[in-house]
Amino acid sequence: MERLQKVLAAAGIASRRKCEEIIQLGRVQVNEKTVTELGFKVDPAADEIVVDGKKIAQEKKVYLAFHKPKGVITSVKDPEGRQTVMDYMKGVKERVYPVGRLDYDTEGLLILTNDGELANLLMHPRHHVPKTYLAYTKGIPHGSLLDKLKQGVQLDDGKTAPAEAEYADVDTEKNVAVVRITIHEGRNRQVRRMFEAIHTPLTKLKRISFGPVLLEGLQRGKHRHLTKDEVEELRRAAAEVTHNVHKGD
Ligand code: URA
Repeated sequence: MERLQKVLAAAGIASRRKCEEIIQLGRVQVNEKTVTELGFKVDPAADEIVVDGKKIAQEKKVYLAFHKPKGVITSVKDPEGRQTVMDYMKGVKERVYPVGRLDYDTEGLLILTNDGELANLLMHPRHHVPKTYLAYTKGIPHGSLLDKLKQGVQLDDGKTAPAEAEYADVDTEKNVAVVRITIHEGRNRQVRRMFEAIHTPLTKLKRISFGPVLLEGLQRGKHRHLTKDEVEELRRAAAEVTHNVHKGD
């Protein structure tokens, strides 16, 4: 949901300041009711917004896959002035925002969209579409530790749900490994905390898939539009997860 004056300004009606005046003058209707309150929140994807009797142009829905580099923050603004994912979206004219987040230190696949409905489904607080990461470990974790990751480890906000974990690469000479791990939740710094729980330090963490969408082929710092099929599959995956949650509740 967004403030009405912001949506009007983004639709090219006038400057934000001027849009506030237009609202106060009673020239704006939301779902056929005149709104004069400035803080009024609307869903630009679902609400019908009319200015001076004309419907404002609905923003085209866009769905992007972005390869977030390490050292970039997943937020629209950073008070500390660090680089944000939005700095990489300068060429995108629609107001996309990230679906969920990746840590500052984590790189890999991030989905951005202006489809609030799909974003909400994908960010369900308890159950998420599967997300796969490559975790680069210092030392080679014993197989029994991977079993623990799979069964669930105790974190300070509760035990993790069953996950998949397997070796993607093992280098005995360098004494390092890469573990491919798939989780079905989205807690804060979850993968890092899971490896802390098995006392295995990570040198790098990279997300390589988000539901049906793969990072493969996308250069660091670049984005691409999802294909129609990917969007469909993402929608289906989100609906399935939500359905299962309600069944289980
Ligand atoms: N788990 C983490 O620890 N970090 C991320 O960025 C995503 C998942």
